[in-house]
Amino acid sequence: MSISWSAESGEFHLRNDAISYVIRILENGCVGQLYFGAALASGRSYRHLGPGEFHGFSNRLGEPVALEYPSRGAGDFRVPALAVEPADGSTVLELAYVSHRILSGKSPIPGLPATYVERGDEADTLEIELRDQISGAEVRLSYSIFHALPVIARHVLIRNAGTLPLTLRCVMSACLDLPDAEWHFVHLSGTWARERHVTSRPLAFGRQSISSQRGASSHQHNPFMVLRRPWTTEADGEAYGFSLVYSGNFLAEVEVDPFDTTRVRLGIDPEGFSWRLNPGSEFAAPEAVLAYSSSGLGSLSDTFHRLYRERLAKGVWRDRPRPILLNSWEGAYFDFTEERLLRMAAAARELGIELFVLDDGWFGERDDDTSSLGDWHVDRRKLPDGLDGLGRKIGDLGMRLGLWIEPEMVSRRSRLFVEHPEWAIGIPGRPRTEGRSQYVLDLSRVEVVDHLFAVLSEVLGSAQISYVKWDMNRNITEPYSLALPPDRQGEFFHRYILGVYDLHERLTRAFPEVLFESCASGGGRFDPGLLAFAPQGWTSDDTDAVERLKIQWGTSFCYPLSSMGAHVSAVPNHQVGRVTPLATRAAVAFFGVFGYELDPTALSPDERSEVADQVAFYTRHRDLLQRGRFIRLLSPFGGNGNETAWMTVAEDGRQAIVGYYRVLNRPDPGPHRVKPRGLDPALTYRVTLWPPIGDSLERTNALVRGGDDLMSAGLFIDSDRQESARIGDFQARLFVLDATPRQG
Ligand code: DGJ
Repeated sequence: MSISWSAESGEFHLRNDAISYVIRILENGCVGQLYFGAALASGRSYRHLGPGEFHGFSNRLGEPVALEYPSRGAGDFRVPALAVEPADGSTVLELAYVSHRILSGKSPIPGLPATYVERGDEADTLEIELRDQISGAEVRLSYSIFHALPVIARHVLIRNAGTLPLTLRCVMSACLDLPDAEWHFVHLSGTWARERHVTSRPLAFGRQSISSQRGASSHQHNPFMVLRRPWTTEADGEAYGFSLVYSGNFLAEVEVDPFDTTRVRLGIDPEGFSWRLNPGSEFAAPEAVLAYSSSGLGSLSDTFHRLYRERLAKGVWRDRPRPILLNSWEGAYFDFTEERLLRMAAAARELGIELFVLDDGWFGERDDDTSSLGDWHVDRRKLPDGLDGLGRKIGDLGMRLGLWIEPEMVSRRSRLFVEHPEWAIGIPGRPRTEGRSQYVLDLSRVEVVDHLFAVLSEVLGSAQISYVKWDMNRNITEPYSLALPPDRQGEFFHRYILGVYDLHERLTRAFPEVLFESCASGGGRFDPGLLAFAPQGWTSDDTDAVERLKIQWGTSFCYPLSSMGAHVSAVPNHQVGRVTPLATRAAVAFFGVFGYELDPTALSPDERSEVADQVAFYTRHRDLLQRGRFIRLLSPFGGNGNETAWMTVAEDGRQAIVGYYRVLNRPDPGPHRVKPRGLDPALTYRVTLWPPIGDSLERTNALVRGGDDLMSAGLFIDSDRQESARIGDFQARLFVLDATPRQG
């Protein structure tokens, strides 16, 4: 058991080789937080790290006291984790310890995605029950510690054990108090086509936060943040990571108080949220995953990658090699016939591509984005033999068929909207805002989810479809459900996401062999909640190789390579008009789940042979590129942003691929180097370059070198002066490191 309880000191110690989390039941029944960080010795008391007792007003007014789950009242004036309003309209609770349980394993959270275990010995769970005597509000705090990862997964369940209704105003999934404020707040923020750029700023006195009010986790912010020391680097120093397994409105907030303590809160955004809890009913908050690293940001990310790749993603595709795909969107948009699609597929198959994904435009009468969402029946004008016919013909080419859907939407011009206008989200008597000529369906209503499950099951059952891209192209602007009474509209956003999860759950159960990829105008809902159903996501609509460096670098802070869809597209790039070499586009997209997003029939013979080589390279190294340990080396957010380097290394350290990227070339290069990490210093590696073009860079690097030499002295990244004068901008090179056989 990695959780111990001392009745004598009232302490719980959750511990594995890397971390400790220590909680104490104070004399007055409050649950105090003593410590979260590097592992501490077991069998000792850490009572000195926290208050003997939290007296509130009998303490000095406003003195910071670390509590596990602070509510309003008693003189803690920082933002609470929980705000519950009993029938009298007050919001003060006195939550006191009632009991606890320590269990092996980890239980699911009803209706919500969560990390899981496959064997009881992978994690232990502590559940602490608290109660407010006056209101009857009961709170269960759950903490699971994974044995092999520096991770605590927390969640909270609120129960109304009283006789009158309660209104929940704020239910955070986690709250953590740290004893100083010398941290930088790191978050992943941006907008459409430049999602998850890394932003880092020193903490300041007061509250600082990121959040979403869009009904989706959003392009703008990701439900993830890091606190790192100012001196923490990729390879050294302390960092805490906080990730919410949720796809809707969220808040990630840090408050620094006058005593320079830091309170972290993570959960559903309380802004606009309320939830009526009738006597006898329960409310489950989404899971928050807390990770700690004493060895830099790289190892913090590695923790999230392993956990999310292996114990959040589920289903048969969790561990299977993901297919190399051709997506029809940028190659054809809405302009296709079956014949054109088959020509594209045949050309792709010749290049070694395995899966053909038919994107938007195959249903209703959808020749542009102004109609037909909701009418999920095949457009026979374009596909005379239906999806079934297309699937068979694609199958005859030796490929599989994938299909785009956007279940949560309805077009104004659609049969579904004529039949069920009341299913579109909107406020009676007020205009609905259109986005891309579409409205959002009210998935908080079970009949809407039932309908979508029925029609989509019919579609997926009608043909050999082995992949689904589930898109979502607008956010919710007028949150309101006709199915909820006026005083319960605060529940709408969360109920919507519960409906999304319910539909995902039902479809993934009904079609267990189908690989799901999530998408929301690119990366507008790239979050752990959806990762639980769709093991890969479309990282961004921006396929430009230079833009992708920042997007994929930022995304990798929390999400594994196996979750990041990354495609090579045509030039000039459709998002920024930039012209980058084909090899550079591939060298960036290799670090993720690889594919193409272009018309392969439009490639020149030279380009075709380059693409065939790329597909062969990725196929050869697929396992390393999808499941290797990803290590960030040179940041596109650092310096002048001109250089990026990253790598992936096999678990046993015997193979690695380093990617080096230079945006603008520079004249008269120097003897610069980039140092890989994570190799075995005792091994020797043969270095080969991709693409193999026999240039000076290849000549200087193509050696057998020790892991120690490579990591300490580095790979050479500059060509000689004459070659450098010719290579131009947007260059990339991959260094493939293969351990040579051991001697003797
Ligand atoms: C937005 C997605 O991000 C694109 O890849 C494409 O699927 C379009 N929607 C289709 O409408």
